[in-house]
Amino acid sequence: MSEHRAGTRVLQAGRGAADPGAPFLPGPTFAAPFHFAGDARDVGYTYGRYHNPTWTAFERALGDLEGGPALVFASGMAAVSAVFAIALKPGDVLAIPDDCYYATRALADDRLRGIGIELRPFATSSADWNRVTDGASLVWLETPTNPGLDVCDIAAAAAAAHAAGALIAVDNTTATVLGQNPLALGADFSVASDTKALTGHADLVLGHVACADDAWAVRLRAYRTQTGAIAGPMEVWLAHRSLATLDVRLERQCGNALAIAALLQQHPAVAGVRYPGLPSDAANALAVRQMQRFGPVVGFRLADRAHADRFFARARLVIEATSFGGVHTSAERRARWGGDQVSEGFVRLSAGCEDPADLLEDIAQALG
Ligand SMILES: Cc1ncc(COP(=O)(O)O)c(C=O)c1O
Repeated sequence: MSEHRAGTRVLQAGRGAADPGAPFLPGPTFAAPFHFAGDARDVGYTYGRYHNPTWTAFERALGDLEGGPALVFASGMAAVSAVFAIALKPGDVLAIPDDCYYATRALADDRLRGIGIELRPFATSSADWNRVTDGASLVWLETPTNPGLDVCDIAAAAAAAHAAGALIAVDNTTATVLGQNPLALGADFSVASDTKALTGHADLVLGHVACADDAWAVRLRAYRTQTGAIAGPMEVWLAHRSLATLDVRLERQCGNALAIAALLQQHPAVAGVRYPGLPSDAANALAVRQMQRFGPVVGFRLADRAHADRFFARARLVIEATSFGGVHTSAERRARWGGDQVSEGFVRLSAGCEDPADLLEDIAQALG
């Protein structure tokens, strides 16, 4: 890890030494095979499913920020499933939050249970780590959770997991590595959907895993090469290009998220608000201890579906869309998917980079 602060490191991460006549960040390398003769061990790049210089540069950047070797995957779910695949075998126990991203729960339910892996669900905000980790092989955390925004103590969970002989993985999507560093808090794996705030322009689908231990990175790389669902160089290059602005984007987005949460909290039409950065939030004390930033995502409850629909119809700066973390403010009524335990009027909002005053005015008028 370089000696600079995060806001400087995101600009430098993964870039080589200044090369006269070369661009700051070389463009994507489009190659299936690379020229090579003789023994594959003697050359750098051989074949595009194994490695690519564009991945190497982005993975160096992620590795620097995360504090451990990182691998890029074709999506967040490809990253999640790669960790499940290398860390679990039939007969193992996976401890998994019952309130984490619904596709992660569905993957575990549909694919792992069927091959003899036992699932042990727990609630993020009230987990008893000794009970959760006892006899487990892998403990999965997601903090803050999507969409409920509950927070759990990564260091406490990691200590209990390691004492019980279990591995621990953290889905760090909502916070990003600049908001929270799972490896520094004791996790074995830091996993993220880079589709979200890490890249932040709503123009690509990508994921990554960073590992505390080189040996796990080697196993993940072998798994990625064998299964072959790899990221395209264009997406990875766009991601690396976007990483340079992560600090400034988050500064605006997290500031907007906090201001929106404070406005929502005062509004009579709002039945409840969750944002870990809000001093009155149930998770705030813990979030302050383990997070550097609280992320762009805010959750709030309106009376019912009709009130939420009216909010979307009236808002002009809030784009109705799924996903989160982008430079444009977006939101959705989460119950429309059916996979989360949320009320019909629950809205997950992702604060963008708009001028805070415009955004607050628009949200206030949309609430009526
Ligand atoms: C917390 C979390 N983890 C993982 C994913 C999966 O990421 P992707 O859509 O890039 O596969 C998402 C997607 O919304 C997510 O919110």
